[in-house]
Amino acid sequence: MTKHNRAKFQPSGKIQFGVFFQGVNSGTIWKAPESGSQTDFESFRRVVQTAERGLFAAFFLGEGLRLREHLGRPHALDVAGRPDAQTMLAALASVTKNIGLVATQNTTYNDPADLAHRLSSLDLISGGRAAWNVVTTDNAWTGANFRRGGYLDHADRYKHAEAFVETAKRIWDSWETPAGPARRVIHSGQHYTVDVTPRLPRSAQYRPVLFQAGDSPEGRDFAARQADVIFSAHPKFDDAVEFRADIVKRSLAAGRAANDVKIMPASEFILAATDVEAREKKEWVRSLQIGPQQAIAYLEQFWGRELSEYDPDGPLPDIDPVVEETSETRGSGFHGAKARQLADQWRAEAKDKGLSIRQFVTSRTARVDATFTGSYSAVADHLAEYARVGAVDGFNISPWLIPTGLDDIVNHLVPELQERGVYPTKYAGSTLRGNLDLPSIAE
Ligand SMILES: Cc1cc2nc3c(=O)[nH]c(=O)nc-3n(C[C@H](O)[C@H](O)[C@H](O)COP(=O)(O)O)c2cc1C
Repeated sequence: MTKHNRAKFQPSGKIQFGVFFQGVNSGTIWKAPESGSQTDFESFRRVVQTAERGLFAAFFLGEGLRLREHLGRPHALDVAGRPDAQTMLAALASVTKNIGLVATQNTTYNDPADLAHRLSSLDLISGGRAAWNVVTTDNAWTGANFRRGGYLDHADRYKHAEAFVETAKRIWDSWETPAGPARRVIHSGQHYTVDVTPRLPRSAQYRPVLFQAGDSPEGRDFAARQADVIFSAHPKFDDAVEFRADIVKRSLAAGRAANDVKIMPASEFILAATDVEAREKKEWVRSLQIGPQQAIAYLEQFWGRELSEYDPDGPLPDIDPVVEETSETRGSGFHGAKARQLADQWRAEAKDKGLSIRQFVTSRTARVDATFTGSYSAVADHLAEYARVGAVDGFNISPWLIPTGLDDIVNHLVPELQERGVYPTKYAGSTLRGNLDLPSIAE
């Protein structure tokens, strides 16, 4: 390819799917009769094998290293329990053949030599299907779990992450080649001092594929320099187009080709035979995602007090929150927001729109931008448009039901996409790097 071509983004005309098996979250219905366990191996096996039947590129596990808290106790309404990703993915490698296995692992509390070795192990036993989703972890209270304690400033977290990833890459690069034996990696920097020799050979895909999730300018630049795939938070069409342009610009600035970094946004699909049925299904899904208890517990996080005397189908609480500032230890995403101000805003908004507590919480927690609702054919048409312009390389799907939540996607949406020529009809190869059409790594 000439320099000119490398600088111009070329849509592949295709999209792929990944599945994000979530742990702690309010988007998965765990209380319906058909819901499986979130920790039994059987749930994971059922999901990964369905995904593989649907030719999904990757199976993805997030990481939550500390349980969220609620009024000083573990958050009872969250789904507590998330088996260690590498252990689970190693087990899943033995019941699958082609699907990629992505482990989210943070750079703030791990060590590069140790993590590089464990990821190499997964990559080897899966025949070149491992990936590492590099995260820095945005929740300070997690630090108390670790001997290092403390936390890093946002910008420092990414500097630290970069040093971590570069060290891991050096280790993976140092295995013996026809030209010579494995080399020692001796490196001393601001963040790491290591003297390490790789203990494992390269896998069929050379080294694990690198995913990145993190959306700040620092996170995006880090991805543009280091990642193969971004797990993005920009699924909506116009937003996805804009995000792609931004990543292409950053990739070129980092000296990489325009097509080097793939993008797979988080998404949710609510599908049925007709648009009307799909919209009805959405109402049903939302009502199960946020039940009366979840609605009250959600508000309690911001009010800092028990609100069990309030009717979930009535108006928002008329009393004020007990704290001026919400605390990070509550584990909410609203660190530092002024609780009273927030309460006033929410009451006004709910009153304005005529929403009960439950309706208000549902409207706040629904993945409005990330949800594709409609008939199989309408959604397939819409996704084909993403493929045509190259807005994304695929979607990382969070099923709202485990373990059967992918069934209608695989049975009905995938064939519609294949008919439109925008979805693979077989796995391109046996490695994740090959299946994602990533550039191979030269010796
Ligand atoms: C789609 C997405 C998924 C993420 N998944 C995880 C996760 O499973 N575990 C985790 O600790 N952080 C996760 N993160 C958080 C990122 O690692 C990062 O720490 C955080 O977003 C702060 O970085 P930022 O300011 O660049 O966004 C995720 C972020 C995004 C956007």
